[in-house]
Amino acid sequence: MMRTEGDSWDIVTSVGLTALGVATFRALETIDPEPMIHDDYAAWFVEAAGEPHFTQMLDDPASVGKMRRFGRFMGVRTRFFDEFFAAAWQQGVRQAVILASGLDARAYRLDWPAGTVVFEIDQPRVLEFKDRVLAEHGAVAKADRRVVAVDLRDDWPAALTAAGLDPERPTAWSAEGLLPFLPGSAHDALFERIDALSSPGSSVATDDFGRGLDPQRFADTEEKFFGSNPFGNLDVSDLWYDDARAVPGDWLARQGWSVHSTTPVDLAAGYAQPITDMPAELLDLMQQARYVSAEKRR
Ligand SMILES: C[S@@+](CC[C@H](N)C(=O)[O-])C[C@H]1O[C@@H](n2cnc3c(N)ncnc32)[C@H](O)[C@@H]1O
Repeated sequence: MMRTEGDSWDIVTSVGLTALGVATFRALETIDPEPMIHDDYAAWFVEAAGEPHFTQMLDDPASVGKMRRFGRFMGVRTRFFDEFFAAAWQQGVRQAVILASGLDARAYRLDWPAGTVVFEIDQPRVLEFKDRVLAEHGAVAKADRRVVAVDLRDDWPAALTAAGLDPERPTAWSAEGLLPFLPGSAHDALFERIDALSSPGSSVATDDFGRGLDPQRFADTEEKFFGSNPFGNLDVSDLWYDDARAVPGDWLARQGWSVHSTTPVDLAAGYAQPITDMPAELLDLMQQARYVSAEKRR
């Protein structure tokens, strides 16, 4: 476990590097002959960061080999959250919060209805890098994008409301690829704060690896089934906390949210992109993940 209280990072170190990693897999998914998603922004970030492992993967996609298996799961995940936001705006929600946004380009990629405000929360150096690259490419957001540079272990609701979040209006929240990186106290506070800031009509989506995914098992499986570590020299599971925490879906249900939970394999089948070439042991591991969406009706 490499984490310390109040630790920080940029896009090529510690937890920041995981954001670059998932952007790399989104870039690879985008150029796949049968892509699950399109993210034309992801490659910009990988090129700009110049980190050797991920740069090599994009320069020579053939070298990615079995690590593409990991990428397919990233494609499923991206599509799940894309569809979550689309469902929210179809319900009339015009306020979105992307918690731990990393290099998520949804504010640019998705066709948000006019008048939608999209808040992005992440650590300052991650967001500085992201903004610099987007500015260099002249990218134009398709929503009123507001960047909130704050640590999610700190008082992020104060920073978010200062940036203009209106708790009286419904909000669509995402926490994608975030939960294991938070200590249990910050993890549980995250959902308590989302609940407190959510008026009826709000919704939240997250991917919950749960207690079933123990770090050592993940590390062993990476080597065994992806051929090598998708994140290069970084053992992502070293960055995770495995202390006690609430189960997000159960906790939200107890607060009266209407909860739906599914697995990556079921999602992929629903997207007509069934995951077929996975060894059973790997599938079992990835199936520990739950993709949870919940709606606050009252
Ligand atoms: C695996 S990346 C996922 C990024 C993005 N959600 C995506 O799926 O592309 C994890 C992200 O969580 C952010 N993160 C983790 N802990 C955080 C914290 N305490 N405060 C702010 N951001 C945090 C990291 O900076 C990083 O961008």
